[in-house]
Amino acid sequence: MQHMFVAGTHPMFPDALHDEQARQDFVRAMRVHVNGTVQPGLSRAYEQVAKPSFTRARGRAPANRSEVRQSMQPVPIAQMWSALMRTTQELLFDAVGPSIERQAPDLIDRARGYRDRNGKLGSLMLDPALPIPRYHTAADIHCKPGGYHSELAPDDVSAGAEYERTLHVYMMGQLGPHNDDLAKSVIAWLKREHPGFSPRRILDMGCTDGHNTLPWAEVFPDAEVHAIDVAAPVLRYAHARAESMETKVHFAQMNAEKTPFPDGHFDIVTSAIMLHETSNAAIRAIFRESHRLLAPGGFMLHSEARPMPGDPFNNFMQDWSTHNNAEPFLGTLHDLDVVQLVCDAGFGDRAFELRVPSVWMPGAWDHDAKAGRRGSWYVAAGRK
Ligand SMILES: C[S@@+](CC[C@H](N)C(=O)[O-])C[C@H]1O[C@@H](n2cnc3c(N)ncnc32)[C@H](O)[C@@H]1O
Repeated sequence: MQHMFVAGTHPMFPDALHDEQARQDFVRAMRVHVNGTVQPGLSRAYEQVAKPSFTRARGRAPANRSEVRQSMQPVPIAQMWSALMRTTQELLFDAVGPSIERQAPDLIDRARGYRDRNGKLGSLMLDPALPIPRYHTAADIHCKPGGYHSELAPDDVSAGAEYERTLHVYMMGQLGPHNDDLAKSVIAWLKREHPGFSPRRILDMGCTDGHNTLPWAEVFPDAEVHAIDVAAPVLRYAHARAESMETKVHFAQMNAEKTPFPDGHFDIVTSAIMLHETSNAAIRAIFRESHRLLAPGGFMLHSEARPMPGDPFNNFMQDWSTHNNAEPFLGTLHDLDVVQLVCDAGFGDRAFELRVPSVWMPGAWDHDAKAGRRGSWYVAAGRK
């Protein structure tokens, strides 16, 4: 059924010609196959082959994900699965990239139109002098050629358009028609737990194409919504996308580690799946900056993908991207005591973490249910 998923479009959404669509559908179907049909074989191979062999050699079972990885390296199905995962990821960008390049001149024109039109709702402020952090230039994160920041032409928007389309294919439709399930799920928690909370200003950090920014503007129409990213092409696209969807957001090219906003300017500082693409030093700086930017009573709500499961085998599976998909900080992030970092950043005993259920697919991604930790998305949180 996931093959039938239809992405929610808008006037900036890149199209796909028949053959381009067919290639993208193939990649999505291949992901479904690799995840749904090949992957289950790994746990059997672990229990029946890798774990017994490790145990014979060491007198004990693998104790952590590194030892599981070591034990699985010679196992043929693990090698095949890993090769298929990597190939599918490279195919993802092979299938979407050329389609975006073909229509880039038109997408750039459309974005310029929204940027320059009279009566625009939000704004776009770029800073060409802003240094791109090394954790974005040192590797093509999750194999995305050129990362978020590379520009193919003046006023380029390709990286933003590519991100939106690839995310639909990569997530197999599991983030909803507008890829905005994380923000909607966090907002649902806020509305449920703090129904009277009425933010005056909201900041979304690492917004990319803004798909997790827009729900904040929609749910809190009286709030001033700002969104920042270090990468210009994704911001140009995000701004045009928001304008085309008649949503008012102020986009700016800034580093979340240190922004020029005044102290106490925001009632909510949030992000969606940004933290795992930063670094050990950056995450600490981002928590400190979030604390500085919040007014008393304000919430910091940084959401992340599935929390890494505690058992060594599933931990190994989820850690695949750290080693094979150019997401070098992912594993380290999951080893950190995030609540302690939030506490140290100034939140003290008002630091906490949440697992919020997905509003789009309730119960999905619920790995930790057996451990009594229900919830699809992880949120590193604090209240000032
Ligand atoms: C995986 S994307 C997340 C996109 C989006 N928030 C979403 O919900 O899909 C991570 C984004 O964070 C941005 N980013 C990473 N580090 C940043 C930083 N220090 N300051 C601002 N943006 C940052 C990247 O440029 C990228 O666009």
